[in-house]
Amino acid sequence: MKPRVPVITVDGPSGVGKGMVTRWLAQKTHWHRLDSGALYRILALAAVHQKIPLDESARVAALAADLKIVFSGETEADEAIHVNGENWTAEVRVETSGELASQIATSPLVRAALLQRQRDFRTAPGLIADGRDMGTVVFTDADLKIFLDASAEARAERRWRQLSAKGTGVKLADLFAEVRLRDTRDRKRLIAPLAAAPDAVVVDTTQMEPVEVLDVVKALLQKRGLLGGQ
Ligand code: DC
Repeated sequence: MKPRVPVITVDGPSGVGKGMVTRWLAQKTHWHRLDSGALYRILALAAVHQKIPLDESARVAALAADLKIVFSGETEADEAIHVNGENWTAEVRVETSGELASQIATSPLVRAALLQRQRDFRTAPGLIADGRDMGTVVFTDADLKIFLDASAEARAERRWRQLSAKGTGVKLADLFAEVRLRDTRDRKRLIAPLAAAPDAVVVDTTQMEPVEVLDVVKALLQKRGLLGGQ
């Protein structure tokens, strides 16, 4: 019998800081990291490239089998995403790709097509899984389930600060509208809606600085004996 591979899941809405937390967790534990949102983004982009309408779910889902995806880099700055040998990093990360991903993610066929692919990331010594349904559907037996939350206002403002620092002239009101739209679609969909698993620890980060969030997460890990002597 194969030894059981441990998993920590981190779910939550867009812009809540899952990327920051899961990268930190992966560095601390030296476990693998699954960015499940990137898989949905890549599949949506592949459909757009092939001019397949996003609501033709069977055709979109069928594309998943032919995508050879390689993630590399540990930090946001050195992240690289190659699909079938091409560098898609920038395209995957733009805001509009998240919106396209959210549209295809409402389809059961699309979700089924990506399910095993996500589970395949669970290899020794362990996995940190980032997404919307990691704790509720994909890794229901996870060793620790964290659900990060924050008000839509706080998330839109954080994003606005990040983009403004990069010199992008985005309006806070537009970002807020986008966050609300994506939240509604991700939370209201019939299959695998964004929700905390009953056994998840919910951390509301609305009033917290990133370092405070990491302190809470670190304490959770220690409590579960998942951080060793660190
Ligand atoms: O995490 P992200 O912003 O990259 O995700 C983009 C979209 O993909 C998100 O709005 C909904 C969908 N998604 C999903 O339905 N389930 C996941 N586990 C991850 C992402």
